[in-house]
Amino acid sequence: MPSPTHPKPETQNIASLLKEGRTFPPSPEFVANAKVQGMEGYKALYEEAKSNPDAFWAKQAGELQWIKPFEKVLTWNEPHARWFEGGTLNASINCVDRHLKGPNRNKAAIIWEGEPGDSRVLTYQMLHREVCQFANGLKLLGMKSGDRATIYMPLIPEAVVAMLACARLGIVHSVVFGGFSAEAVAERTKDAGATLVITADGGYRRGKSIPLKANVDDALNRCPDVAKCVVYKRTGEPVQMKPSRDIWWHDLVQGVEAHCEPAAMESEDPLFILYTSGSTGKPKGILHTTAGYLLGASYSHRMVFDLRDDDVYWCTADIGWITGHSYVVYGPLCNGSTLMLYEGAPDFPAKDRFWEIIAKYGVSVFYTAPTAIRAFIKWGDELPAKHDLSSLRLLGTVGEPINPEAWIWFHEKIGKGRCPIVDTWWQTETGAIMIAPLPGAVPTKPGSATLPLPGIIAEVVDKKGNPVGDNEGGYLVISRPWPSMLRTIFNDDARYRSAYWETVPNVYFTADGARRDQDGYLWIMGRVDDVLNVAGHRLSTMEVESALVNHPSVAEAAAVGRPDEIKGEGIVVFVTLKQGKIADDKLKQALREHVSKEIGALARPDEVRFAESLPKTRSGKIMRRLLRDIASGNQTTGDTTTLEDLSVLAKLRDDEE
Ligand code: WT7
Repeated sequence: MPSPTHPKPETQNIASLLKEGRTFPPSPEFVANAKVQGMEGYKALYEEAKSNPDAFWAKQAGELQWIKPFEKVLTWNEPHARWFEGGTLNASINCVDRHLKGPNRNKAAIIWEGEPGDSRVLTYQMLHREVCQFANGLKLLGMKSGDRATIYMPLIPEAVVAMLACARLGIVHSVVFGGFSAEAVAERTKDAGATLVITADGGYRRGKSIPLKANVDDALNRCPDVAKCVVYKRTGEPVQMKPSRDIWWHDLVQGVEAHCEPAAMESEDPLFILYTSGSTGKPKGILHTTAGYLLGASYSHRMVFDLRDDDVYWCTADIGWITGHSYVVYGPLCNGSTLMLYEGAPDFPAKDRFWEIIAKYGVSVFYTAPTAIRAFIKWGDELPAKHDLSSLRLLGTVGEPINPEAWIWFHEKIGKGRCPIVDTWWQTETGAIMIAPLPGAVPTKPGSATLPLPGIIAEVVDKKGNPVGDNEGGYLVISRPWPSMLRTIFNDDARYRSAYWETVPNVYFTADGARRDQDGYLWIMGRVDDVLNVAGHRLSTMEVESALVNHPSVAEAAAVGRPDEIKGEGIVVFVTLKQGKIADDKLKQALREHVSKEIGALARPDEVRFAESLPKTRSGKIMRRLLRDIASGNQTTGDTTTLEDLSVLAKLRDDEE
């Protein structure tokens, strides 16, 4: 299998990308039923939005259910946006209550399957009951609007209930991915100032149970402000309950009322914080607010998946990522969809679990990550071929550039050549999909996220903000505010300014490289900062490095990515040891485990290399670009004149195994 297209801007290979010249127009049948039909349809909507953005977004916002209508569409004070001021609404009304009045009342909101094979269906009516009861439980714990809560749960319906119950009361949730470590839970809980943690005893992953509650116990030793912890019983494994702090979910909701008045939230009130990696410093608490975020998530979900009433829609992301927030919970529920939720791993008990689920529940829209597709390819074509995938009508990808070969495989082996593929580019910060084909309108090209959604102005520019020519690489920027944009970094507005608004003047800086082809299609070339993209998830080199230097043997460390067939990028770490420490395989293994324990298994280095010293600039900055070349076995290219000591490079090469 060819390796994924994942060029760093310094090593970009535009010529090889240009070889991809295939285009795939939607079929006439697909177009005939689509919300937006043909390129003329797309262009008309795009122009409408571009020429009068306020009117366009006001019209879209009319699709939300408001408690009090808004007075003004946008107040823009760069870099701070306020959308839909004067209005009040509640996200849980939009995701649940509004569907109780019509035919959706008894429609399945969530079809869930646990990894062991257990399953449940919650209609909108049932979801409403659970959300109200749990919200009333949270009230009993003294939680109120503006408080923060950490959610650290497996992918079970209660995770969705917990998010919506918080939203109902105006409690700002911060979901921490269940695969992250105790350390990550502690750091995020402290930064958010959360006073409540919602978790489970455990969750299932590859047949084993993940000890979520034990991790929370460990984390909370370092979080004195957390007064309460609610624990959902999922696995039944024994856990320690601290009587003054911990309470079982089922005890909390026992006998509470199934009616709970939702709070009237201002448009700009925070809905959630979600932590994501940046190139320097600790994770950034990306802050999203109520109206703009909900609008972005629901509008894009409707348009990009060309939603139909009878869809069974499956986004395979975990709720710990922004994809899970926008396209498992808020977007689909706001649109009254039926969503598929699966707790576990794609290869348990066998490597065809996903295909089995699609056939069993009649999934019609399937949205997943390129890294997963590359794993499916490796596992063999005969696995999807064994199952009836004829219910599928649309496929989607997210998280990293998809290599054209994986795109074609997905199209042929899963979509049987019938289903359009929407390659969706966006970020935790953008809150919603920004660049993607409207599937009944925009012909696709394998490897390109194609064109911006109506309402989004994306450009490829140089450092000064001047547009670069067709097929020239540059920075991808967004030049107009959009409703679901992040509002700030929680507790750190200065970092918000410097990370997104100071690199290129007057526009939002995405930190991605891109080029625009002769048809205006955008091709994303990957991150330009020191951020790794492992299995479609951002990890900062800095976090991996600080985990390593925590280890008693390590003096200094540098982490870099190298292309990986399955994960997109794998992690290679270069480590210098303290005096007298022994560089052997045992220590290599110990360091890999150490990082995994500190951050989570996703961050476990694929390779540890010991070095006498690391290549640095004269100002002391580690030159990761050179290490990247060495890690991927390439010739070092580009400028080495700022290197302090050239002999370091030669030594690093000699040490290669
Ligand atoms: C970064 C954002 C958006 C949810 C998942 C990741 C990369 C994302 C694509 C795509 C090329 C993509 C970018 C982006 N990325 N989708 N379709 N094509 N690259 O969210 O952790 O905030 O990461 O993922 O580099 O900046 P995230």
